[in-house]
Amino acid sequence: MTDTLTKLTYEALQKGKIYFGVAHKTLSTQLLNWVHPSTPERKPQSLSPENLATLQGWLDKIIETDLQDARRGVYPESLLFENEWEDFFSYYPTLWFDLLTIQERANQKRYQEFAPNIDTEGYPKYYLQNFHHQTDGYLSDMSANLYDIQVDILFSGAADAMRRRVLAPLKQGVQSTFNTVIPKHIRILDVACGTGRTLKYTRASLPKASLYGIDLSPAYLRKANQLLSEIPGELPQLVQGNAEEMPYVDQYFHGITSVFMFHELPPEARQGVIEECFRVLQPGGVFVICDSMQVNDCPQMKTMMDNFPIMFHEPYYRHYTTDNLIERLEKAGFENISTQNHFVSKYWIAHKPVEG
Ligand SMILES: C[S@@+](CC[C@H](N)C(=O)[O-])C[C@H]1O[C@@H](n2cnc3c(N)ncnc32)[C@H](O)[C@@H]1O
Repeated sequence: MTDTLTKLTYEALQKGKIYFGVAHKTLSTQLLNWVHPSTPERKPQSLSPENLATLQGWLDKIIETDLQDARRGVYPESLLFENEWEDFFSYYPTLWFDLLTIQERANQKRYQEFAPNIDTEGYPKYYLQNFHHQTDGYLSDMSANLYDIQVDILFSGAADAMRRRVLAPLKQGVQSTFNTVIPKHIRILDVACGTGRTLKYTRASLPKASLYGIDLSPAYLRKANQLLSEIPGELPQLVQGNAEEMPYVDQYFHGITSVFMFHELPPEARQGVIEECFRVLQPGGVFVICDSMQVNDCPQMKTMMDNFPIMFHEPYYRHYTTDNLIERLEKAGFENISTQNHFVSKYWIAHKPVEG
């Protein structure tokens, strides 16, 4: 009875998010067409009815998997219903104010624009972009406040369900290899932790583990700190730094996750980050990457993948969609690599060989 109620409530919540996302996208497209129409080269190709039906099927499936993983104890069911409503109501109106600025900047192909008070020194050149045409890229508090709302609308309310798919392989990988290590001594790192959502879910899944997050954006880390400091338990340690040169000693972590970063890196940085993750991972440790699906996962969805960098500024995405991450992981030394697909994302689960 409780199970059925949980399922129905969770499905209803997700349906609400889908309808809200559709309404937002429709209204904002109409408003922009009226005030500031997109230039012809920014117009996406329409998806076929078959493609739309496939997407709906995948969306239903990830919601079901999310529920199943909660039921089998990967994380508590209560997590499915946790939403930052206060943030949503505080910042959603700002999205609308920002929309026209974004459209104007995108139409004029101004892709590297930051407010004069933002210090852009010391970041890798590839990072200084208005990814998703976002005002100030990743470098302002406003960007950090709007990011989660924008991502959740983009993914029809399933962004957190996509993030949570790293938890089962992470938990399984860590618990099977390090079963003699006391839970408190397990160290997990989230690379490019952004506003801290994956760390929040990892805390629920592995409540006693020590958690660490690294990201280049001070503003996103401030936001992560706000979110994570509300959760009981040991506070995750957040560090501002480049994932290509992390300030951790060799073989420190038992598990590493990274969500939605690799498509925003140029190819050589992708390899650099993978090698750095290999260095800081313990022998036997598990590395779980979550990012966009790739062309070879579903060639019929190529139109959708072609649309993404047209609509959102994503300079490295096209290369990413055909990049062979298994080869990159093997080159770094990882073994026993498997992949999974959930909704429009893909997961690589890789292991560092046990020594000796
Ligand atoms: C699309 S966001 C994903 C954030 C978060 N993982 C999530 O689930 O929403 C990409 C993140 O990668 C970070 N990032 C990009 N390049 C990086 C690098 N070289 N080192 C560390 N962080 C980086 C950005 O600051 C941003 O927070």
